[in-house]
Amino acid sequence: MTFNNPITAALPALHRNDFPPGFAWGCSTSSYQIEGGVHEGGRVESIWDRFCARPGAIRDGSSGAVACDHYHRWPQDLDLARELGTNAYRFSIAWPRIWTPGGTPNAQGLDFYDRLVDGMLERGLQPWPTLYHWDLPQPLQEQGGWAARDTVHAFTDYVDAVTRRLGDRVGQWITHNEPWCTSIHGHLDGVHAPGQKDFATALQVNHHVLLSHGLAVPVIRANVPDARVGIALSLHPVRPASSSDDDAAATRRHDGLRNRWFLDPLAGRGYPEDMLALLGELAPRTQQGDLDAIAVPTDFLGLNYYFPEAIAHAPGQGPLQTRVVAQPGVERTAFGWEVAPLGLTELLLRIHREYAPRAVHITENGSCYDDAVQDGAVHDSARRAYLVRHLAALCTAIAEGVPVQGYFAWSLLDNFEWAEGYTRRFGLTHVDFTTQQRLLKDSGKWYRAFLRGEDV
Ligand code: NOJ
Repeated sequence: MTFNNPITAALPALHRNDFPPGFAWGCSTSSYQIEGGVHEGGRVESIWDRFCARPGAIRDGSSGAVACDHYHRWPQDLDLARELGTNAYRFSIAWPRIWTPGGTPNAQGLDFYDRLVDGMLERGLQPWPTLYHWDLPQPLQEQGGWAARDTVHAFTDYVDAVTRRLGDRVGQWITHNEPWCTSIHGHLDGVHAPGQKDFATALQVNHHVLLSHGLAVPVIRANVPDARVGIALSLHPVRPASSSDDDAAATRRHDGLRNRWFLDPLAGRGYPEDMLALLGELAPRTQQGDLDAIAVPTDFLGLNYYFPEAIAHAPGQGPLQTRVVAQPGVERTAFGWEVAPLGLTELLLRIHREYAPRAVHITENGSCYDDAVQDGAVHDSARRAYLVRHLAALCTAIAEGVPVQGYFAWSLLDNFEWAEGYTRRFGLTHVDFTTQQRLLKDSGKWYRAFLRGEDV
């Protein structure tokens, strides 16, 4: 099975009117990846500040200390989002700007996001904040981080403070971004902060993150009249690397951790039984009521879509005994990720069929290429094609009945790409990290023309 459109296929024609009325069109960013200003406004250290200081942790030895300097340049960046013609903007709130040792929320941090939100509203951008996009306050890590159950309650206190302050102007809330990355990258393969490598810890972290989502939702609803609340998951279409029964079974196990481990408990089905049996002692310790809390009804599912995975049975490869197999002859981004627009359609149809969320928002989708500025322009035709083809794939899913209500391109700006530092550019806007100059790429110009309703 392939999720690839033929590489040579002509780009489909698209029109904004192909999408439902009221559709949210935006770009997506996150605090640590763009803000910088890490010592300003009373912000405390985050686990990413600490992790970046570890030799070898970040490919180019960099950090988010300055990043896009968005902390100071946000009016200009919001202007860019407005000039693109978007009507929504997804960003994240840095918990380290709000957290204080005494527990009283940091007023300067709340003021910053207050101004940012007003800046969005002045520009006709509907704010879509994510409450946790991986930057845990370091002092909480010292008390056990997400592996400690107390962090769940610290999170709901933080959510309470933020939603009390912004809830009169912000109706959409995303609790967590990609819990799989928080757990697995942060605590199993160790390539993300806090850089731990222990399977049981990763699954316990994951449980606490999901629980904190479940307990945060009623807090948000209490503070924000008519709030629309969801969680953003990174989900992947998976298929066996061969026609063997072993690879088919391995694919099911891989899907069990990649996708079902999140979708099932959020849909009220608990953790998948086949995976609990497989994981045995590694499974998280849960308390009575946890799974009911996690299954709290939400208003939308946020889907971050990047690539599909082909899976093979791999004896000896951890408890799952699976391996991701690179497929030959497929189109890839500069990151090596397979370009597979049909995978988006397939994934949306599956989610709709098996889980039926009330609505879906594509909270991230985008591509990384080695962009170069030439004569004052960035001719990123591959990124433009990626965007066009994924929007066309989205259209197909909508036509098939999937209630998709928004699309947020990753990303508004080139930014700090975690363990890859500044070596991976995902922006519709090019950022020169020496001068901080912003330059709209051809892909951004295409998005603008599309959003203006031009035939593109
Ligand atoms: C998902 C993450 O949410 C975001 O932070 C990251 O930059 C993109 N994927 C690209 O890797």
